Amino acid sequence: MATRMKLKLKTVFVLYFMVSLMGLIYALMQLGQRCDCAEHDMPKDRTISRLRGELHRLQEQMRKAEPTKPPQKLAVKPSQPTIYVITPTYTRFVQKAELTRLAQTFLHVPQLHWILVEDSPHKTPLVSGFLASSGLAYTHLHTPTPRDRKLQEGDPSWLKPRGAEQRNEGLRWLREDRRGQPGADTQLGVVYFADDDNTYSLKLFEEMRGTQRVSVWPVGLVGGMRYERPVVEAGKVVRFHTGWRPSRPFPLDMAGFAVSLKLVIANQDACFDGDAPMGFLESSFLQGLVTMDELEPKAENCTKVLVWHTRTEKPKMKREEALQKQGLGSDTAVEV
Ligand code: UGA
Ligand code: MN
Repeated sequence: MATRMKLKLKTVFVLYFMVSLMGLIYALMQLGQRCDCAEHDMPKDRTISRLRGELHRLQEQMRKAEPTKPPQKLAVKPSQPTIYVITPTYTRFVQKAELTRLAQTFLHVPQLHWILVEDSPHKTPLVSGFLASSGLAYTHLHTPTPRDRKLQEGDPSWLKPRGAEQRNEGLRWLREDRRGQPGADTQLGVVYFADDDNTYSLKLFEEMRGTQRVSVWPVGLVGGMRYERPVVEAGKVVRFHTGWRPSRPFPLDMAGFAVSLKLVIANQDACFDGDAPMGFLESSFLQGLVTMDELEPKAENCTKVLVWHTRTEKPKMKREEALQKQGLGSDTAVEV
């Protein structure tokens, strides 16, 4: 009986031991297992996605807040031809205003060298100071128009050509500067004659940069017309749309063509004739350089106006003069 009891007790102990052991094993197994943490992580996940949303919203806001796209900087390719711009200029009330407008256009044009030629027996302090602070690559020259070739007060503007001697002085400097330089006759470059009062689109300079000999394009608001232009058929200039003497060798305004530096160097004598009759100044230079057939049409086959022959009104000084008589004129030390 006692033995039986002993056995039963032993069985109970063994059973108890086994159940405890299984319980322990189960508990240990649970420890190493991943729990379903979704419930616990919810607040953390929600915070991250909320912050992500906020960041996206702020980024969108910043994008919209920018008033314009930053301007695309025209990349300077080291191999691209330099554009030499020759500009005649002379002292008058609007001179600094004209030069400011011009310089601020040129500052946007890569690889541009400005040759500014004063119609004056000496370089003036106004132009010297202006160029020095312009931020442009430049050459400052001067040469006076001889008295007999110069327009006098009251003369109609068309009576004598303007700026001829100054453009020739610019050409002289260009040729001189290149003389003796290795490979001068193959140097890449373009020469453009830009009057100081016209209005120039930046696109014009990229059009002319590829000039091989002489390139041409329309000019707006010139010759008493909306525009003048070379007429292009099958990629060639066949005639000129102009209201006055279309029979001229090159019925083009000064602003309507550019010449390659190579051609300028190769034709040392090509220059502007200060005695040319009205409307023949451009022809006097181009005649020996190129034929109509060789002209290179730009600006989408001469269908786009990228330069305007604007002219600035002469400011009236009646009140200034009246005040000066009373000793109350504007301070002459203030440069205008
Ligand atoms: C037109 C053409 O667009 C000019 O290129 C051309 O030289 C002129 O006719 C002409 O037939 O001689 P327009 O507006 O009548 O131009 O001439 P301006 O703008 O008064 O003068 C042309 C350039 O010469 C300007 O850059 C001007 O500053 C300069 N200029 C003018 C002088 O250097 N000295 C002067 O006495 C007058
Ligand atoms: Mn003009």
